[in-house]
Amino acid sequence: MSVIKKFSSLPHPKTSNLLFGNLLQLRDAKINFFMENRKTIGNIYRLRIPGKKIIVVTQPEWVKYILVDNNKNYTKSFAYDSIKVFLGNGLLTSEGEFWKRQRRMAQPAFHKEKLQLMFQNMRTQIQKGVDVLEKNADTNKSINLSEILYKITLDVVNSTLFYNEVENTTNEIYNLVSKGNEYIIDRVNNPIRLPNWIQTPHRKKEQAVLKAMDDVFFGVIDRRLNKKEQHEDLLSMLMDARDEETGKGMSKRQLRDEILTIFIAGHETTQIALSWTLYLLSQNKDKRDLLYAEIDEKLEGATPTSQNIRSLHYLKQVIDESMRCFPPAWIVGRKTIEKDVINGYEIPEETNVIMPIYVVHHDEQIWENPNHFLPERFSFEHYKDQHKYAYFPFGGGPRLCIGNNFAIQEMQIALIMILQKFRIEINDDFIPELDPLVTLRPKNAMFAKVYKRK
Ligand code: HEM
Repeated sequence: MSVIKKFSSLPHPKTSNLLFGNLLQLRDAKINFFMENRKTIGNIYRLRIPGKKIIVVTQPEWVKYILVDNNKNYTKSFAYDSIKVFLGNGLLTSEGEFWKRQRRMAQPAFHKEKLQLMFQNMRTQIQKGVDVLEKNADTNKSINLSEILYKITLDVVNSTLFYNEVENTTNEIYNLVSKGNEYIIDRVNNPIRLPNWIQTPHRKKEQAVLKAMDDVFFGVIDRRLNKKEQHEDLLSMLMDARDEETGKGMSKRQLRDEILTIFIAGHETTQIALSWTLYLLSQNKDKRDLLYAEIDEKLEGATPTSQNIRSLHYLKQVIDESMRCFPPAWIVGRKTIEKDVINGYEIPEETNVIMPIYVVHHDEQIWENPNHFLPERFSFEHYKDQHKYAYFPFGGGPRLCIGNNFAIQEMQIALIMILQKFRIEINDDFIPELDPLVTLRPKNAMFAKVYKRK
């Protein structure tokens, strides 16, 4: 019979500070800290952080155990409390029966048939971005590619799920999301906080961001309520949904939380994935040529449709490999409800479990040459024997990203429409540094030159 080892016997990184334990290392080094620990400690260890029990798990078998097999024993980890301050109690942060009901209501908006109906609309929104690229093509001018892709993904979500009800405030939304991101991470990194009633300048700024978010999203609800015509979008589905038992609809506050969550989760991640994909293609010209060849041969210049994109296998491999290299949501976390046993160690109740997706995606024992961009590793012959949780950019189990197929479809259409026409060359002075906040944005704006393909 195997003996269950004590929690305190789990290995941990050397602490750099007596008072804060590993907190400062975590805050300052983020991804590097986790990557280093993978090399020097292993794929299951604990962190020493005052007032919190935290373990880090990067072994696919155990990731699956936590997200899928024993998911009932897990809620979301402490970091989501900080996200909650901004997004409220929407799908990403809610729990239990309440979450289940909300997910059931939102799920139909993402069914395959619904995604097919959105296809044309996605193309129309993406075309606007392609037009901007066209205007700048062959001018030798450097354009801010991140900004153009951001506008595309914002328009796609706004148009397909909210019938353009979020008013055209690209810059405002971008600034709000950026600030929200920073404040959330600041809260995660500085868990020891003054009580809410003490108004520091920082807290005032945070509240101003919250107020601006409320103004945008309560505005969306009010505009829709005042409209006569019907729209069959996610917004209407959520507004019309009634509780099976009470017959009551959602409160305005709950609606605000749900639409804000889906709006934010739905555009920033996809923009990041598209940015990194175009970066990787510009750095790996042999792979880009293979993709050009596939798109040209299979589509012969035709516009992408829900039928013809299915034959573009290499494109799908490129997208998968790009999200392996740069997973837009680079980390997920859970917390034990009751005590559990992981890898022979007793894990007490209320232990936070951090699963840095990025580290699993770059584990040398799982992936050969993990720092190389090799889309072929996702071909059927290569990938069939891989562990299902060696690659999990969309999370897994019941809390799997609701927008995974939406995002893939959008990326397929966008990449086809861009690559059919252009060669995008990211400027040589772009440094691919990571800015691992809630998402994995590039630290620096991505500037590029655009050339028409002859
Ligand atoms: C490349 C694009 C995307 C990536 C990489 C991504 C990644 C993720 C991940 C990793 C999770 C799980 C979080 C956890 O387990 O704690 C998640 C959840 C979620 N995502 Fe996405 N996402 C993407 C696109 C989208 C889109 C397009 C939408 C909506 C239009 C969306 C909406 C959501 C929502 C609402 C949740 C919470 C689901 C629940 O718990 O029921 N995401 N996403």
